[in-house]
Amino acid sequence: MVFGIGSNIEEAALFLRQGKLVAIPTETVYGLAGNGLNPDAVLEIFKVKSRPFFDPLILHISSTDQLKSLVLSIPEPALKLAEVFWPGPLTMVFPKKEIVPDLVSSGLNTVAIRIPDHPLTRQLLQLLDFPLAAPSANPFGYISPTTAQHVADQLGEKIPYILDGGPCKIGVESTIVGFENGKVIIYRAGGTSIESIEEIVGKTEIITSQEKPSVPGMLESHYAPRTKLMAGEIKELRNKYGTEKTGYITFRNYIPGIDKNKQMVLSPDGSLDLAARNLFSSMRLMDASGYDLILAELVPDEGLGRAINDRLRRASK
Ligand code: TXA
Ligand code: MG
Repeated sequence: MVFGIGSNIEEAALFLRQGKLVAIPTETVYGLAGNGLNPDAVLEIFKVKSRPFFDPLILHISSTDQLKSLVLSIPEPALKLAEVFWPGPLTMVFPKKEIVPDLVSSGLNTVAIRIPDHPLTRQLLQLLDFPLAAPSANPFGYISPTTAQHVADQLGEKIPYILDGGPCKIGVESTIVGFENGKVIIYRAGGTSIESIEEIVGKTEIITSQEKPSVPGMLESHYAPRTKLMAGEIKELRNKYGTEKTGYITFRNYIPGIDKNKQMVLSPDGSLDLAARNLFSSMRLMDASGYDLILAELVPDEGLGRAINDRLRRASK
C-alpha cells in the first residue's frame, strides 16, 4: 500500500469515513484509528495489529455530549473525573449501549472511552460523526509509538495515512479507570497520576496486573522490545547480568565506569514527566542497537513513575 504522512485532517477524515484506518497522534501515544461504530473497520484494526480479539479497544470522542450516545449511564465519580481530566490521558469504562459493536468491547457489556488532548486529533474528531476506536499503533505486544516515524516503521505498509502531530507530550498510555459497586478501580496506571485521581474521588482500588486477567487486556507481558529486558535496581542488575553487549536505560544519572554510548538517561533533571516522555523512544533505540540484553532502572514509584515502572516490569516479563 502507498501511504502518506502529513497533517491533513480532511484527508484523514476521508479515509476514516470510507472505513479505512489512519494513525492518529494523541498526547499519550499514537493510535491506530478506525470508525468505532463500523465492525468492518474495527476488524481491520485487530488484523493490522495482530491483536487477539479478547483485548478490547478504547473509543475516542470529542465531547461529553457524545459520551451519552454510547453509554447507558455515567456514574457520579466519572462525571467529576471527566470535568477535571478531559481532554486528557484518562480512559473510563462505562456500561455500553447496543450501538457499540461487540468487537470493540471484546464481548464485554462495558466500553472504555476517552477524550484525547491533541489539537489535530480533536479537530479530526469534530469533523467526524462517529467515535474513533484506537489501540496504540504498534504490532500487538510491542512498545507503543510516540512519533509518526515509529508508526511508519512498523505499520506504514498496512495503512493509508499517518496523521503526524509531532512527538507525544505525555509518552505513556492513558490511565484506565472503572466503576464497580460504588468503588473507583484503576485497571492501568498511565498518564494521569493515581494521586491526582484520588484527590477528586477519594481512595481507589488498584488492580492493574494479573496472571489471568478477569478483565481482558490486562496482560502481564506487553510493551516489550525484542531484546530481552530486565528492570530493577540498576547497579545490582549490572553486577549480576551486565556484559559487553548490555545496554542500559537509567533514570537520571549515567552509571560510572560504563561507556556512555551504551546508556540512555531518561531524565537528567529527575522529572518523571520527562522520563515518561522519553521512555518508549529510548526502549526502541536500545532495541535497535544490537544488544543482547537491556537493563533498565526502575524510577520512584509515585506520580507518572507508577506508569513508567508498570511498563518496564511488563517489558521484562
Ligand atoms: O493512551 C491510550 O490509552 C492509547 C491512545 C491511543 O489512546 N490507547 C491505548 O490502547 O493504549 P490499547 O488498546 O493499547 O489499550 C487498551 C486497553 C486494553 O488493553 C484493556 O486493558 C483496556 O484498554 N480496556 C478496553 N476496554 C475495556 C473494558 N471494557 N474494560 C476494562 N478495560 C478495558
Ligand atoms: Mg497498546
